[in-house]
Amino acid sequence: MNWRQLEPIDRTHVVWNGQRLLFFGGCDYHRMASHPEVLRTITESLQRDGISTGASRTTTGDHPAYGALEAQLARFAGTEAAVLTPTGFSSNLILAQALAGKFSAVLLDREAHCSLRDATQFLGATVHFFNHRDVSDLTKQRATLGDGPVVILTDGMFWFDGSVAPVADYLEVMRSGDWLWVDDAHGFGTMGSRGRGTVEQAAVATTERVVTTCTLSKALGCAGGAILGSSAVVQEIWRRSSMFRGSTPVPVPWIRGAALALDLLENGNDDLASKLHENAERVRSQVEGSIGKGPIVTQVGIICDMEKVRATFLEKGIFPAVTEYDGKLSLRAVISSQHSYEELDRLAACLCELVTK
Ligand SMILES: Cc1ncc(COP(=O)(O)O)c(C=O)c1O
Repeated sequence: MNWRQLEPIDRTHVVWNGQRLLFFGGCDYHRMASHPEVLRTITESLQRDGISTGASRTTTGDHPAYGALEAQLARFAGTEAAVLTPTGFSSNLILAQALAGKFSAVLLDREAHCSLRDATQFLGATVHFFNHRDVSDLTKQRATLGDGPVVILTDGMFWFDGSVAPVADYLEVMRSGDWLWVDDAHGFGTMGSRGRGTVEQAAVATTERVVTTCTLSKALGCAGGAILGSSAVVQEIWRRSSMFRGSTPVPVPWIRGAALALDLLENGNDDLASKLHENAERVRSQVEGSIGKGPIVTQVGIICDMEKVRATFLEKGIFPAVTEYDGKLSLRAVISSQHSYEELDRLAACLCELVTK
């Protein structure tokens, strides 16, 4: 049975194996990938702007739409500057190329996303792992690393259980010269007021030593990535990252779609980020022992019989909300701001049934 091949048919349903099922997966947290205005913007742009700039931004591929979205992103996130990247994954590699040689050591959350792990290869510094979201382990390890500048790398919100890194505490651990680097692929557009992200949610002032990477493919429903930080960091990226300098950027239609999605998130009549939290809380409040703070509702490590779990979901017309992480199967449902109360309650009832089984 292939559980990966799904076809979205409306904003909350997929077809799997010929069946129409309610969907609590993916990371399209506001269903921007099927928002009618986003789709119209992309379609019109395809006709007007074409499919590709056909060159990197350092040569002849620097369309004005890129600069416009970068300014919008920086304003939204409250940073001095932003730069777009081909994907969220590559935003971490590109940033590492730009910062190579700047640090004497790297402190990496043990459970950080693989793109952060891969990025450390470019930094040219020894990598030390700290226990997942563990401030006291981080403090201990920082103390052994001397006075040279250290960079702390973490996800903002972790994809596998929706837990959030205590970034404000990490800043307390940092010495002068240290940097904090947050991959906020899941927090951007979902956490903090109007979805400004994990860093804003933690009320951490964006300084030149806090840098965030994110993706345009999750809360904004489009494609591409971005790095949010100081103007100096962005200049270093343009100057030093071969991956940035040598890549063709995301096609303009997707950039215009992302710009519209961001505008809807920031200025739309519906406060989508608050709605998302309200929806997630509605499920969490009904299901004993569920964890996470944002749109990912999880119960880790409770599944014994995967077949039974899948059958229970399918019986109720829901695509099985399960994930495997670190050898453990978990119930993991991803809530969107677009699910109805009736849909959320159906999920909650199914999760309750499984938890008590
Ligand atoms: C934490 C994290 N960082 C980066 C990425 C990569 O983003 P993209 O799909 O835009 O390359 C993902 C994607 O799932 C992610 O979960």
